[in-house]
Amino acid sequence: MWHCQITAASPPTDCINVNPIPGLRAPFPGTRQRRQRSADFVRRLVAENTVTADQLIQPFFVIDGDEAQPVAAMPGVSRLGIDRLVDAAGQAHELGVPAIVLFPVTRDEAKTDDCAGAWDPEGLAPRAIRALKQAVPSLGVITDIALDPYSPHGHDGLMDEHGYITNDETVDALVRQALCHAEAGADVLGPSDMMDGRVGAIREALEAGEHRNVMIMSYAAKYASSFYGPFKEAVGAAAAFGKSNKKSYQMDPANSDEALHEVAADLQEGADLVMVKPGLPYLDIVRRVKETFAVPTFAYHVSGEYAMTKAASAAGWIDERAVVMESMLSFRRAGCDGVLTYYASDVARWLRDG
Ligand code: PBG
Repeated sequence: MWHCQITAASPPTDCINVNPIPGLRAPFPGTRQRRQRSADFVRRLVAENTVTADQLIQPFFVIDGDEAQPVAAMPGVSRLGIDRLVDAAGQAHELGVPAIVLFPVTRDEAKTDDCAGAWDPEGLAPRAIRALKQAVPSLGVITDIALDPYSPHGHDGLMDEHGYITNDETVDALVRQALCHAEAGADVLGPSDMMDGRVGAIREALEAGEHRNVMIMSYAAKYASSFYGPFKEAVGAAAAFGKSNKKSYQMDPANSDEALHEVAADLQEGADLVMVKPGLPYLDIVRRVKETFAVPTFAYHVSGEYAMTKAASAAGWIDERAVVMESMLSFRRAGCDGVLTYYASDVARWLRDG
């Protein structure tokens, strides 16, 4: 890289070498960066990052019954009954998507203060896991470990009499939920709750229960973000959740160093894969995590990011496919091994069809 002082009157002769390897490249015009952009073949040869279906994880919302209920704030996404879920997951698998994430949508009657629905072996999540593993055994099934679908207030943990979301009591509940999902056949557990110590507790319980190869993809750096808005509609938590927020357990968007402590803790407790969430606004965090720990690192391109892209493309203001592919490349460039995105199957189809 060369920085040139260019004035209207004089040609760029006054160049300072800021090349990472001094003297490696000739000064202009010996080096013209545009040469390597001059034709498609060379652009392909010098591309530093690529996107393939192998890097995509498709989230699904699952409901009881056999309907497909569209999510208004997420055009193209529907809550699916188990049979439809199995079909859609099978299609994603055929397109080369390696894994999916499941989010159960629980009926209000089934929500209780102790969140016992979270570890009911006949609950929606374990039934969906069993159906998926039977129909598409080689598709990776990742589940969400958090109590929000089972609590009347929509928080990710158990609430005490002061309205505070408890930590240690919540971790005990999460362990029961994790074991329930592991027993149903989940391949990867995704604790998305941000309680302290939950990864270690889940890992210990998995070992004790002989679920040694069940992985933990921890939502290690999960921020208290407004980009989750449409998700709350999708899982029916919006009404219950009201004006409340999750700032006492999810991270402050102002913080970056703190994310490294969160990731370090989860890795030391036995997380196999780590995640940063949300996605595009937090790529600086992805980069720091990848550079610091060099472990499999994922990002969640969340519901609000999806909704914004859909809305702008529906208005004709952006080219949806081009913007999504550029977004995927940006995740890769930042250091992501993979991306959870509601666009996963679309991206896989676009890649296949060229
Ligand atoms: C809650 C959970 C949330 C998301 C995934 N799991 C919402 C929240 O933390 O409030 C958001 C995903 C998205 O917005 O796409 N356990």
